[in-house]
Amino acid sequence: MRLAAKTALVTGTSTNIGGGIAESLAAEGAAVVCVDRRPENAADCARYLKSIDARAIGLTCDVTDEAQVIAATNAANQAFGGIDILVNNAAIFNKKGVLDMPLDEWQRQTAVILNGAFLFTKHVARLMIEQHRNGAIINIISTAGHQGEPGNIAYCTAKGGLLNFTRSAAMELVGHGIRVNSLTPTATDPSESLERAARWGRTVRNAEEIRQAFEPFRTRVPMRRLPGPRDYGRAAVFLASDDAAMITGIDLRVDAGAIARYWAWDPPEK
Ligand SMILES: NC(=O)c1ccc[n+]([C@@H]2O[C@H](COP(=O)([O-])OP(=O)(O)OC[C@H]3O[C@@H](n4cnc5c(N)ncnc54)[C@H](O)[C@@H]3O)[C@@H](O)[C@H]2O)c1
Repeated sequence: MRLAAKTALVTGTSTNIGGGIAESLAAEGAAVVCVDRRPENAADCARYLKSIDARAIGLTCDVTDEAQVIAATNAANQAFGGIDILVNNAAIFNKKGVLDMPLDEWQRQTAVILNGAFLFTKHVARLMIEQHRNGAIINIISTAGHQGEPGNIAYCTAKGGLLNFTRSAAMELVGHGIRVNSLTPTATDPSESLERAARWGRTVRNAEEIRQAFEPFRTRVPMRRLPGPRDYGRAAVFLASDDAAMITGIDLRVDAGAIARYWAWDPPEK
């Protein structure tokens, strides 16, 4: 158990990546605070973790609202006595380009990704410092934060910003013993999310349609296989654990080789 006696707060605990990371942290012994704007995503994730004997609570919170972020941080502290690990994972998707993106939608999407990570980092890091904890903060990026994807302007911009927020916060917090790193997922195999939805007692009607939507991504990554939330979960456990004690300010890419790929080369079928 690499995270025994630790407490992790994960934002955006849907059946997909946040839920997968929460499960991986819990499997290594961490108590998990599941935070989501949608009450059912916070509650179902926590309920499932408790059903497998992990310690967990679900909290409904909009990551863009500072009062709610403070309340969630306080509630986590009250429940488990502090926070050792923060995973800033909440995001919204809105595929619009620079010519079409309405200002209010740009502001909302960049706020969830950037303001959310900023506010939770600010308040959780303050608590970590107050309690003299050697904390670990992990920001979830995307391959779209490293590359210029057309028609996804606010997402690409915010994720690129979060990448350098990570380095800046890492430098600011290094003197307090807090490590700040990021983790880059790519297009994610939907199978695990569908399986998790079933475990959480949910019915997904368009499962085959969802699987098909990811097929074009699969054929373009060098490994010809897309990562799943558990792959990110294992990487998050590493970054959160003492195995990564000397690592801060890095981006760990769990992307099946997507970013390293030479642009004019097509990966062969195995
Ligand atoms: N799915 C992918 O293929 C993929 C690829 C690369 C990166 N990512 C990144 O991984 C992370 C998780 O993605 P996912 O696919 O699991 O998405 P998802 O939509 O399944 O989960 C995101 C969660 O964030 C929550 N959320 C949204 N706005 C919020 C707010 N204001 N306050 C609190 N919670 C809020 C949603 O309710 C949802 O539960 C995101 O940061 C995303 O950018 C995803």
